[in-house]
Amino acid sequence: MWGQGGEKVVKIAPSVLSADFASLAEEIAKVETAADLLHVDVMDGHFVPNITVGPLVVEAMRKRTRLPLDVHLMIEAPERYIAAFARAGAASLTVHVETCPHLHRTLQQIREAGPKVGVSLNPATPLAALDYVLPDVDLVLVMSVNPGFGGQRFIPAALGKIAELAQRVRALPSPPELEVDGGIKLENCREVAAAGATILVAGSAIFGAADPRAAVEEMRRRVG
Ligand code: DX5
Ligand code: ZN
Repeated sequence: MWGQGGEKVVKIAPSVLSADFASLAEEIAKVETAADLLHVDVMDGHFVPNITVGPLVVEAMRKRTRLPLDVHLMIEAPERYIAAFARAGAASLTVHVETCPHLHRTLQQIREAGPKVGVSLNPATPLAALDYVLPDVDLVLVMSVNPGFGGQRFIPAALGKIAELAQRVRALPSPPELEVDGGIKLENCREVAAAGATILVAGSAIFGAADPRAAVEEMRRRVG
């Protein structure tokens, strides 16, 4: 996102994957006034080894927060669930190119359902996978870990990928957000933002901190 003076404004999206799911409402409340978005990781045990939550939990979260719900679908055949997540109140729906043989059609389906349209790349997937869809999306999510788990280490090769993508999106008439997900900590958030990220997802660095709200504020200070 770009501020009114043309400066880049970096958003912070805490990932509830690292929150205590038995106390989700209380966990969300901790970051409610500090965060820009809430990142929700949906995993199916097929595309990624882990299993997390579905539309019911997104709908329940929707009632407990005013933050936009940024829903990251790490599931096979995501087209089957787009309508359900849209009804549940997702503000954005992001699918992985690796799960979509008919990517263009799936992105159109999200557009028609209402949420912002997101597309994601695994660490080993080249940027060329986006060549013919980039003008049609509202956000690109670059994975900087292999998806499936919180608390992994940032893969350094993601930095060059982010920088190259940032160059490409800036050439578009309405550049999509460039979201980066995985291994983002207070120690490296500035570097990731400097490479061109406009949304930083952070799970363990925020919900694993003693004071999640302070962690969001500190991350914002460091990238500001
Ligand atoms: C991983 C998920 C991430 C995860 C990031 O597959 O997509 O959103 O929550 O967690 P951290 O910030 O701990 O790497
Ligand atoms: Zn995620």
